[in-house]
Amino acid sequence: DPNSPIGVDPFRTVAKEMKFLTKNIRQLLGSGHPTLDTVAKYYTQSEGKYVRPMLVLLMSRATALMPSTAERTQVFGSVDTPISRSDVLIDENPSMPSPSALGSLANDTAAYRPEDSDILPSQRRLAEITELIHTASLLHDDVIDHSQSRRSAPSANIEFGNKMAVLAGDFLLGRASVALARLRDPEVTELLATVIANLVEGEFMQLKNTARDEKNPVWTEDTVQYYLQKTYLKSASLISKSCRAAALLGRSEPHVVEAAYSYGKNLGLAFQLVDDILDYTVNEEELGKPAGADLELGLATAPLLFAWKEESSLGELVGRKFSGEGDVLRARELVAQSSGLEQTRALAQEYVDKAIEAISAFPESDAKNGLIEMCTKVMKRRK
Ligand code: FPP
Ligand code: MG
Ligand code: MG
Repeated sequence: DPNSPIGVDPFRTVAKEMKFLTKNIRQLLGSGHPTLDTVAKYYTQSEGKYVRPMLVLLMSRATALMPSTAERTQVFGSVDTPISRSDVLIDENPSMPSPSALGSLANDTAAYRPEDSDILPSQRRLAEITELIHTASLLHDDVIDHSQSRRSAPSANIEFGNKMAVLAGDFLLGRASVALARLRDPEVTELLATVIANLVEGEFMQLKNTARDEKNPVWTEDTVQYYLQKTYLKSASLISKSCRAAALLGRSEPHVVEAAYSYGKNLGLAFQLVDDILDYTVNEEELGKPAGADLELGLATAPLLFAWKEESSLGELVGRKFSGEGDVLRARELVAQSSGLEQTRALAQEYVDKAIEAISAFPESDAKNGLIEMCTKVMKRRK
């Protein structure tokens, strides 16, 4: 049904912009050192899913159809504004005060025209920056996780070794920072810089399974809260803050900026919940990366946490990070017997519903339908 919102191919909606994405990213990653050049561009060879740039482009187009503010409402920040706000991140409202954005679209050929509903050059560049930051985190993540494969090929740490993989990740962050600085938008810079810090905070929360990291932890509501906080930092922060940044670059009104952020936060949480399900349910060949890796890494993700609520004996295994003889197999069995996977899926669906609700007031458009379709895709994906 062509009139149905579902059925819009989000890729087609922004196909023209996506076409240049990889080429532009490779350009941002050029280095005079031939080896660094190769390692830095390594993950751009295999096609990623490009979820984050796609969301930025769709959000840019969907919000361009609404009235824009001639100027951003400016609240001046002070040097005393706390930078670390990890304790409240899940419900965080990251509208950081920022200095005047005068000249912030220096990168654009023309000032924003309200009648122009197309994607701005700065928003296209933002899409590339989000993919750079994401890829940098994957380079580091594969070292931390001792991963063997990524995107159906040997991971960079295997191909080039840990040292080069880590340095290449740092190089990507450097180049992402340069591109970000050139947007000349302090608020957007602050958002994406915060994302980088959040990725590390999320990874640290994951290194320490529970808040207190006890030997024999007991399931409480805090267990799930800790997991969700970690999930926000590790996955939803990049998606939510880049959706927010896309709206800001388009001079959207504050309530639209909030809607874009809320959409990204809820979709991001759902995205990671589904990722944690797939680790249990899909094999390596289909996934393009090792399956069942989380338990092997000692990680208790949502399916296991919900199983633990029903089966308290899992606490001991969580406490020793599934390092005992037969722990991983036992845990896998208990998750399979529990409603853990079902409950995780139901929670992901709740978040996806919230994401769609967040943008319900946006005017009808292919881009809006693309954003809705991304929610469906996240729930249906197998890799
Ligand atoms: C993939 O998770 C990893 C992330 C979403 C973020 C990892 C973050 C860091 C390593 C912190 C440092 C990053 C930067 C940019 C400074 P996963 O291991 O659960 O997924 P996978 O199965 O795809 O490996
Ligand atoms: Mg990993
Ligand atoms: Mg990891």
